[in-house]
Amino acid sequence: MPKDKNLEGKEVSGHISRRDFLRDAGLVVGAPTLGTISASAAAAETAEIALPAAAADPGSQPEFIQIELTVNGDVYRRAVEPHWTLRQLLRDQIGLTSPKDWCGGYGACGSCTVIMNGRPILSCLTLACECNGATVETAEGIAKAKHPIIQAYINHNAFQCGYCTPGFVCTAKALLDRNGDPTEADVRDALGGNLCRCGTYQQHPLAVIEAAGNLKESA
Ligand code: FES
Ligand code: FES
Repeated sequence: MPKDKNLEGKEVSGHISRRDFLRDAGLVVGAPTLGTISASAAAAETAEIALPAAAADPGSQPEFIQIELTVNGDVYRRAVEPHWTLRQLLRDQIGLTSPKDWCGGYGACGSCTVIMNGRPILSCLTLACECNGATVETAEGIAKAKHPIIQAYINHNAFQCGYCTPGFVCTAKALLDRNGDPTEADVRDALGGNLCRCGTYQQHPLAVIEAAGNLKESA
């Protein structure tokens, strides 16, 4: 049987023992690893390495941030964890369940849309701690204010299961706040980020344009 040579140049038989394999592999893999370790050790000698708070003290309590915001006309003061989203705050702390979570918080469906400072935003991608001082409207507030968009959605059957509807209503209301006379193209453009798994897309422009007409009449 022809003899092979190992990494040290010694002749070995065709059979490589587990010990040989591990030893030879250690020569190859170990060199850069050790190099990395020694570079890290050198760096540690010259610089202070700051550990994240959680790593430094795994038993530490989460840090809370005090915020105050206005939701549907009411002022709320809450202590929030830095990673909480606005959707979590609204649903779990304030008890407003209209912001939904269809896509799992990936910003892909629009079902969590609320209006913040006049603009429709995705509450699943907005950190609660960034909302200090904000003014937020949800579908509950829009309905409570008897905004014509609600009746227009009913008149045109612009929903089936209704899961996506609060997000559509918020986006539509924000459009009407900035454009009192939207065209069908304006409505389709504004609602382009809201998905409906029941396929009610044809009805939304009809409802929003009717609501715009009713707002103009009552102005
Ligand atoms: S939950 Fe889908 S965009 Fe926020
Ligand atoms: S009405 Fe069912 S998801 Fe839109």
